[in-house]
Amino acid sequence: MYRILSRRAFRFCRIPGVQLHTTGASMAASVEDFNQAKVQLGTLKNDPGNAVKLQIYALFKQATQGPCNTPKPGMLDFVNKAKWDAWKSLGALTQEDARQQYVDLVSSLVAAEGPPVAAASPTGSVKAFQTLLVTTEEGVTTIRLNRPQKKNAITVEMYNELMEALDLAGKNDSVITVLTGSGDYYCSGNDLNNFTKIPEGGIEKMAKDSGELLRRYVKAYIDFPKPLIAVINGPAVGISVTVLGLFDIVYATESATFHTPFSNLGQSPEGCSSYTFPKIMGAAKASEMLLFNKKLTATQAYELGLVTEVFPDSSFQSEVWTRLKAYAKLPPNSLALSKQLMRQVEKDKLHAVNDAEVERLVERWLSDECMQAIMSFFQGKAKL
Ligand code: COA
Repeated sequence: MYRILSRRAFRFCRIPGVQLHTTGASMAASVEDFNQAKVQLGTLKNDPGNAVKLQIYALFKQATQGPCNTPKPGMLDFVNKAKWDAWKSLGALTQEDARQQYVDLVSSLVAAEGPPVAAASPTGSVKAFQTLLVTTEEGVTTIRLNRPQKKNAITVEMYNELMEALDLAGKNDSVITVLTGSGDYYCSGNDLNNFTKIPEGGIEKMAKDSGELLRRYVKAYIDFPKPLIAVINGPAVGISVTVLGLFDIVYATESATFHTPFSNLGQSPEGCSSYTFPKIMGAAKASEMLLFNKKLTATQAYELGLVTEVFPDSSFQSEVWTRLKAYAKLPPNSLALSKQLMRQVEKDKLHAVNDAEVERLVERWLSDECMQAIMSFFQGKAKL
């Protein structure tokens, strides 16, 4: 089934942790194998990383269209340029060989993820999501961001799933809803890959679509009808911090941090933070965070009123969940109606702030400052 990859392609596809099958009888993959590999690709649970995705793209193009013959994209069109380079690098590789290598590569990625196992269904689980673990137990709906290997960065899929999970939690019979992260991070903010998937309409369309997604995402928090609690289990970055002003309670473990590095990224604040942060902590402290990228410790965030209470790392989970279970025994209607009274006062204002922030961000995403910052991150030059 498998055959030896060309030396050039093999060099390109060295993937840590993925054993490529490079020996075996040479037999061309059929079109059926190729189509099956396309389907298998869509079932991968782990993101194989940008280098591998480029290789998959290049092999696909070569297999279906032959050698690259399209004009070279401009220098600033960095995503299409990277794709073009990958395709071009396959030279005169035949379509049959490209098809085989595509099938080999996808098989290797599937094999590296191990045999499919039935997902353990946690007690009280309500619906299966790809990027979240959502459970409802003892009156608490818990929405757990579940991409620990990517520090729970929020992909487009995750934004959509979070909106769906919030919608379900708002309507089910749970009393309170909790958002938390799996692994060592609470969340590393917007997944910067969201900016590299350029649709057919170009980057303007990408910015417009992302703006609409963001507007709906933040709206889901503004309109959430029940008490909403953040359990911050580790560092929180970007949008996972800015929406905290829309939660009713924020509990943090001692080692958590809070960072909104928008100017580093050529961007601007969202999540209504341009309004909620100055209101919560005063304009001077909000400016340090939102303009000058100041990272807060959990204790500093508590002192500024962004965090309700900080717990020692060692007892965080047990103390917090004991408390939340007790809260969930309070009369549900009284809790929901009281929350809605507090929120109603400024709901219109929050929607207007959300709209204005989104409008500004859509412009920012098209700016050179922002593109350069994202390029630097993926070239490994820049981290927070
Ligand atoms: N978008 C896309 N990928 C992200 C990400 C993000 N926001 N945050 C983390 N990741 C990915 C990394 O690229 C890495 O992927 P890889 O294993 O395929 O290389 C993986 O998650 C683990 O992150 P890594 O950078 O190796 O961990 P670290 O502990 O050294 O650093 C961060 C963690 C969060 C400081 C660093 O990943 C970072 O700076 N991320 C960008 C955060 C950001 O700018 N968010 C947007 C704010 S508006």
